Amino acid sequence: MTETKTKTIYLDNAATSWPKPPAVIEAVSRFLADCGGSSGRAGHRASREAERIVLEARTHIAKMLGVDDPYRIAACFNGTDALNIAIKGTLNEGDHVVCTAVDHNSVSRPLEAMARRGFITLTRLAVGEDGCIDPADVADAMTPATKLVTVSHASNVTGVIQPITKVGQIVRERGLLFLVDAAQTVGVLELSIAESNADFVAFPCHKSLLGPPGLGALYAGPRTDLRPFREGGTGADSENPVQPSELPTRLEAGSTNVAGWAGFCAAFAHLTPEKSLKHERGLLSQMTDALANVEGVHVVGNPDHTKRVGVMSINIDGYTPQEVAAILDESFDIAVRPGLHCAPYMHRALGTFPDGAVRIAPGPFTTPDQMARVCDALSQIASVAESVTG
Ligand SMILES: Cc1ncc(COP(=O)(O)O)c(C=O)c1O
Repeated sequence: MTETKTKTIYLDNAATSWPKPPAVIEAVSRFLADCGGSSGRAGHRASREAERIVLEARTHIAKMLGVDDPYRIAACFNGTDALNIAIKGTLNEGDHVVCTAVDHNSVSRPLEAMARRGFITLTRLAVGEDGCIDPADVADAMTPATKLVTVSHASNVTGVIQPITKVGQIVRERGLLFLVDAAQTVGVLELSIAESNADFVAFPCHKSLLGPPGLGALYAGPRTDLRPFREGGTGADSENPVQPSELPTRLEAGSTNVAGWAGFCAAFAHLTPEKSLKHERGLLSQMTDALANVEGVHVVGNPDHTKRVGVMSINIDGYTPQEVAAILDESFDIAVRPGLHCAPYMHRALGTFPDGAVRIAPGPFTTPDQMARVCDALSQIASVAESVTG
């Protein structure tokens, strides 16, 4: 991939990746300038071209997951949308769900809301010292009413990778449904449906997959039977008074973001997952080495980079995470994400609730030189606190 030159040092790739490869920007512009049709909404050429683009995107995603049928991939608006479609379309009154402390609010909130109104019961699994859930706890948490187990493939706070293959085996043996939130892993870690036994895989396409914002996807496997979460226009079968039952239409009411999918297809051609993972882990290693002897800087959670994707959180004594992020932004033009990262249970487990931490998430275009400047900025911030308090 060619590096894009930018001034800001952008380390918020766990929220959304930036910069995007130039080919993505070109493909979005080209679609808007030359085509502009709505997918599946008419027989004219622009609409047929839009449909082709969306099918190409589904096909890329299906191949990436080792799935034969691209129509098992629903085009969604973001990761949250994909997760809501899976969760709300699956659960019935009286069901029990096993979720984890690693979960993002896009899993936790729909589940918690259902539990609070007495619709479902919920067991949330803790993480150990290593930042991982224990697959044995999943088996212990199951009850005769359990229908769904949800696990995030990697934490969006610590980047720590979760044992989804072992969990998937246990869930499959019991004949239950397994939902993997792959928001932080698709595009850098391999995820095969056959190996993971996942029935659902939900993810945004604007993070490590490098697509534009406003895109997500849901794989729904053959053991699933989803009620539509959103109902409305599908462009075909319009005489049907209710949402058509076939996939993916059942899950895709409303016009999709075709310009975005054009950009996604362009990004997909340039993805180098193994290289990106190695690069991002290398940058985090560089950072922890450089900060190891800097008084007052602490890595939150397990410091082992070989167990994480390119996400790490830190805190600096004498500052709130928000203060550190504001100084980095205003004085150094470095973009990081402070706070709870929509993952309050994870921060409780890490002892960083309620202030949270400063999340550092490099991307494929972050350079070692930029990382050195970040380390220098963090050292300067820490040394000022030292001189005031020390
Ligand atoms: C682990 C995890 N799950 C789900 C989401 C939600 O994705 P989106 O922001 O595309 O809705 C995120 C986004 O930060 C995430 O990190």
